[in-house]
Amino acid sequence: MRPSTDPLPAVSTTTPNVARMYDYYLGGKDNYAVDRERAEQMIATVPLVRETARANRAFLGRAVRFLAGEAGIDQFLDIGAGLPTQNNVHQVAERVNPASRVMYVDNDSMVLVHARALLATNARTGVIQGDVRNPVHIVRHPEVRGLLDLSRPVAVMLVSLMHFIRDEDNPYGLVASLMAAVPSGSCLVLSHVERQREYEDAVAASYARASAPVVARPVEEIGRFFDGMDLVYPGLVNVRQWRPDEEVSPVDPDVRFFGAIGVKR
Ligand SMILES: C[S@@+](CC[C@H](N)C(=O)[O-])C[C@H]1O[C@@H](n2cnc3c(N)ncnc32)[C@H](O)[C@@H]1O
Repeated sequence: MRPSTDPLPAVSTTTPNVARMYDYYLGGKDNYAVDRERAEQMIATVPLVRETARANRAFLGRAVRFLAGEAGIDQFLDIGAGLPTQNNVHQVAERVNPASRVMYVDNDSMVLVHARALLATNARTGVIQGDVRNPVHIVRHPEVRGLLDLSRPVAVMLVSLMHFIRDEDNPYGLVASLMAAVPSGSCLVLSHVERQREYEDAVAASYARASAPVVARPVEEIGRFFDGMDLVYPGLVNVRQWRPDEEVSPVDPDVRFFGAIGVKR
């Protein structure tokens, strides 16, 4: 990782934290009692949450493998990157193309601390603290500009992120601003929780007063994030059905998480 001038941030252990709750769903160890309690509350009411988190993570891996290989993308801007786990974006991309460059962005202090430790010896990766609600700060950040060439196609990754952004923060405008900063041929990878009436209250309660609320959206609203772009086959689908490595049942109703890759014209 390129040396950073930012100081190491403080980590809160008293507020349930969405990055650490996700780490817990994935079976990771980078979480505290406050996160585990809230995550268990969520699992008790939405039993498939663990499986859903894993399905999303697997979608992310397949999407990066596709982009670094078939699509010929060698630069990744991964916003809402999450705590380092198995098969992080740079590891998947480097397996396909060792020259891949990856900039991780997250607004969470603990993600920054862990990512810096993991990436310390890798010159083609970087991490900055940034908030997707301030896209200009991200795309103008000197470390982003130093690592990625924004005049060439980039994969902008917003995987399991935009459902943490409320409508009043203009989620569609934020995605449009990010995509406006990258050239034609760039890709948007986005996955998002689908709204399910039966779980709406439980999800809201589990993420109430956490580091971010969850705003699940219907599939049509998830599709709007890709307006004006061409969708890579098979389009916007349940993440399990996006180019699966193994056959999955087309009617499998359990995982309500949708994802796609769009290409900027
Ligand atoms: C569920 S994790 C997803 C991690 C990874 N993208 C994945 O799909 O496996 C969501 C991440 O988004 C981050 N996040 C939440 N709100 C954010 C914001 N406004 N700006 C940047 N990151 C944010 C959280 O800190 C967390 O690390």
